[in-house]
Amino acid sequence: MSQKLAIFISGYGSNLKSVLDHFPNRKPYIYANKECSGLSWARRRGCFTQVLSLKNEQNWSDLAHELNDLKIKRVLLLGFMKIIPAHFLSEFKGEIINLHPSLLPSYPGLKSIEKAFNDGADLGASIHKVTEGVDEGPVLLQRKASTETDYKTSKQNVHFVEQRIVCKYLNLVSF
Ligand code: GAR
Repeated sequence: MSQKLAIFISGYGSNLKSVLDHFPNRKPYIYANKECSGLSWARRRGCFTQVLSLKNEQNWSDLAHELNDLKIKRVLLLGFMKIIPAHFLSEFKGEIINLHPSLLPSYPGLKSIEKAFNDGADLGASIHKVTEGVDEGPVLLQRKASTETDYKTSKQNVHFVEQRIVCKYLNLVSF
């Protein structure tokens, strides 16, 4: 049986769009930490959407309780550019999963694609469990992206791989 999913975003939402396109009959709950263009994909689909105000511990606790009350079993971070506080990890009863544009544990944090490309390292994307350390939790799924001579095409390859693994992951967990 499929479980309720929340997706947290912060920006353009290309990964959210690919999830909505890949699962046309599903309506995940979409949360953003600011008004952003990614919310338009969700609104068009008729998903529940909410812009969060996460200014203090209490705001995060309220969010954890809201998700628990809604019986959300999994939160998927798709480009959610905010660090998840430790107390939220324990207050929210489900799993929290992140998509990251590198072959973790290599290149955690920001500008991962650019740093890996400049180092001549392998490019790719990872899905991992969120723990207290940034981009440090156990990797659940990972796939390499091909490196081209130019950065722009290499970056596009990583984004394409991201969209594929996020949909593959959601198939595996019976979303
Ligand atoms: C994606 O590349 C995602 O992996 C990255 O932000 C981008 C969001 O794009 N997330 C991180 O770097 C988290 N550490 P999108 O808004 O178009 O989906």
